[in-house]
Amino acid sequence: MNLINYLKRAKREGWAVGQFNVSNLETMKAVVAASEKEKSPVIVGTSEGESSFLGLKEAVALVKVFKEKGVSLFLHLDHGKTFDYIKKAVDAGYDSVHFDGSKLPLKENISITKKVMAYCKKRGVQVEGEVGSIGGSSTVLKEIPKLSLTEAKEAERFVKETKVDSLAVSVGNFHGVSSSGNPEIDFLRLKEISKAVKDTPLVLHGGSGIPGQSIKKAIGLGMSKVNVNTDLRVAYTETLRDVLKSGEIVPYKYMPRVIAKVQKIVEDKITLFQSKNKI
Ligand code: G3H
Ligand code: ZN
Repeated sequence: MNLINYLKRAKREGWAVGQFNVSNLETMKAVVAASEKEKSPVIVGTSEGESSFLGLKEAVALVKVFKEKGVSLFLHLDHGKTFDYIKKAVDAGYDSVHFDGSKLPLKENISITKKVMAYCKKRGVQVEGEVGSIGGSSTVLKEIPKLSLTEAKEAERFVKETKVDSLAVSVGNFHGVSSSGNPEIDFLRLKEISKAVKDTPLVLHGGSGIPGQSIKKAIGLGMSKVNVNTDLRVAYTETLRDVLKSGEIVPYKYMPRVIAKVQKIVEDKITLFQSKNKI
């Protein structure tokens, strides 16, 4: 089963595939262990920064090893900003890429997305597009970022012209978590977008910090993939700080607790997205 089949099936059946961002082996181990335990397909996401740190080829090689164990795992480039970086990820062996041209004028976003599509489709790689810009960044934010919401008409045109496999939209969601308040999803707008793009699976970015009930409702309205990063970063870093207090210096002795904590977060998200037992 390839990723697009999972996303289409998820949209039809009202559940979502989780994308969990990683930048090291430990977080990848946690995501894979959760996927195996819950029998859930999962996407390992790496942004340009995360994949530069981990290495594009290294990420591909690690995912290949885990796939050989029979895990339903897909490697995805998250928020690829240029055709050149996307090409590097595809050439390294990524299964799926996200071209984020959301800050560009719509016409230019469409034109580069088409170029990405032409390159990827010849190589069996799935493409996620983006219309309307999703603000914030995957960290703990002081303030709620300014949002630039997706217009249903623009989403319709984008999907028709580019024929992307999936579409990221901005409907009140933002990256990161903020102590000033949670994201509030504009469900009416989401409903209109979902209707306009027909069976194209929608992607909910900024999965950390959105209340569980809102995520469930958004999935019911066509969000078939949910991206999570900040919650994993917070769990990883806070647990690491805590375990280091013991004075232990052997990584293979203190890292298992960090991995277990991240794994638990991924398992809880899988339950929320209802992707359990879908392999
Ligand atoms: O692309 C990555 C995600 O949208 C992550 O968002 O850090 O708010 O979970 P998040
Ligand atoms: Zn995102």
